[in-house]
Amino acid sequence: MIIAVDGPAASGKGTIAKALARHYGLPHLDTGLLYRAVALTVRRLELDPAVEADAVAACDFAEDLLADPELRDDAIGQLASIVSAHPLVRAALLQRQKRFARQPGGAVLDGRDIGTVIAPDADAKLFVKATPQVRAQRRHKELRGHGSGLSFDKVLADIRARDARDSSRSAAPLVMAQDAALLDTSFLSIEASVQKAIALVEARRGAT
Ligand code: DC
Repeated sequence: MIIAVDGPAASGKGTIAKALARHYGLPHLDTGLLYRAVALTVRRLELDPAVEADAVAACDFAEDLLADPELRDDAIGQLASIVSAHPLVRAALLQRQKRFARQPGGAVLDGRDIGTVIAPDADAKLFVKATPQVRAQRRHKELRGHGSGLSFDKVLADIRARDARDSSRSAAPLVMAQDAALLDTSFLSIEASVQKAIALVEARRGAT
């Protein structure tokens, strides 16, 4: 069984994807980490994220950084959103993700284009959303926990900027797949979100 989980930043899709993987005993890939690793490489090598050839060159080294704690930084998320808009960067990371999705027994992948591009034939597709304010509150709390002094307004502005960039790019933009089930986590606890996600996957499985 392949489960595709897409949605914007801090919607809860990563937590939900991890919980689904645990529930069904499937391997999980956070595809945002791949773009974050490209972004971190661009920064470390002092390349220009806006130049497609620079960002593509960084793809060759990204694999080595997949466990780097700096990947989680907010600034790296923004940079990942910039490098991920280049079609050749997406092409460079495509096969790795498709291979992960197609492994025997199935997989759970989360990102922006799993249900539309990486695994359009997934058995269950979820699109996880929450209001920008709620997502900014969650991200702000998480960042504060890590000692960051970033203001709520800055976090909200960053989230809005990332939403706009990820949704408006021409290469594999953030859109809900036509056959995805919508899960709004704005007013749900983590536990309730996970239960709802499992129920939606079960409904999809029952329907096929
Ligand atoms: O999910 P995340 O916040 O770790 O993703 C960081 C950025 O990577 C996101 O703003 C856009 C890009 N991304 C993408 O374009 N496609 C994916 N499947 C996953 C992430």
